[in-house]
Amino acid sequence: VGHIDDVQELRRSKPTIIPERFVRDMTERPSTLATAIPSSSDIPTIDFSKLSNGNIDELRTEISQLATACKDWGFFQVTNHGIDLSLLESIEKAANDFFMLPLAEKQKYPMIPGTVQGYGQAFVLSEDQKLDWCNMFALGVEPKFIRNPTLWPTNPEKFSETVEVYSKEVRKLCQNLLKYIAMTLGLKGDIFEKMFGEAVQAIRMNYYPACSRPDLVLGLSPHSDGSALTVLQQGKDNSVGLQILKDDRWVPVQPIPNALVINIGDTIEVLTNGIYKSVEHRAVIHKVKDRLSIVTFYAPSYEVELGPVQELVDEDTPCMYRRYNHGEYSKHYVTNKLQGKKTLEFAK
Ligand code: SIN
Ligand code: FE2
Repeated sequence: VGHIDDVQELRRSKPTIIPERFVRDMTERPSTLATAIPSSSDIPTIDFSKLSNGNIDELRTEISQLATACKDWGFFQVTNHGIDLSLLESIEKAANDFFMLPLAEKQKYPMIPGTVQGYGQAFVLSEDQKLDWCNMFALGVEPKFIRNPTLWPTNPEKFSETVEVYSKEVRKLCQNLLKYIAMTLGLKGDIFEKMFGEAVQAIRMNYYPACSRPDLVLGLSPHSDGSALTVLQQGKDNSVGLQILKDDRWVPVQPIPNALVINIGDTIEVLTNGIYKSVEHRAVIHKVKDRLSIVTFYAPSYEVELGPVQELVDEDTPCMYRRYNHGEYSKHYVTNKLQGKKTLEFAK
């Protein structure tokens, strides 16, 4: 990423014309398929404490809400998730402090081509591809062998330590949510955990500066996630930016303070034989307000062979996906551009 493609630098230079590489073709602009959506169509909210407090009636009710959320939306917000608010604040501060560093400092950790690790823009494969109005900083976190130590910043001071502590907490949340998601399908609670082996976890921080022409650019191109589950934390007091594709409309996700946004990734779509779908989403940009998001991806070990679980395949519901190696899918995912749900055709 040269100086000119760094969107924070671009923003700082206050261009009168948005560089061509960021200007979307008509069909991709934020206004397409967007309508004023009544607030009643907000994504569902799941109260995590009701799943985990030991009260059977509350568990039943919340499991049924979770089933609906996974089936009809593929996205939901989790409240009372048990992660300390101070930790949410610390990771937000760490991410913010990192993005506020001088460009030269951030470029000590350049995005490694063909991976999603480091600072810059990921999923860029050709000179003529449109660029997202977003700076990313991404790290592989677990298992430890996927870490690239040269990419873990020593500045800001507490950055790496905070990522470590935060990731442990988010990992527990993912493991618990996968257990409850299995239960919504009448499956054994530990079915996914057992299949996943030593689960892979990555963190990606997205910084979306404001743009004088938000109607022309996209913060993040439409895509579904290659993970099993994704956990998204949005910066406090940021602009709204995440939109999900539902019934052919882009529906904005209204942040709930201190809640985390969860979405189903491609892996769960395959494992559930398409009962739960990974939903296409994108990020749009605000005219004056910046936005920050901190995203955790939780996925099976690269060694695992995946396919729809047997219990969800029968005569009436034939197998919809082939078996494949998850490591190969990950490689396929990170070496292609973001392209809606096209990436999942790999599994067809
Ligand atoms: C993502 O899809 O990875 C991030 C979307 C967002 O920033 O809201
Ligand atoms: Fe995503």
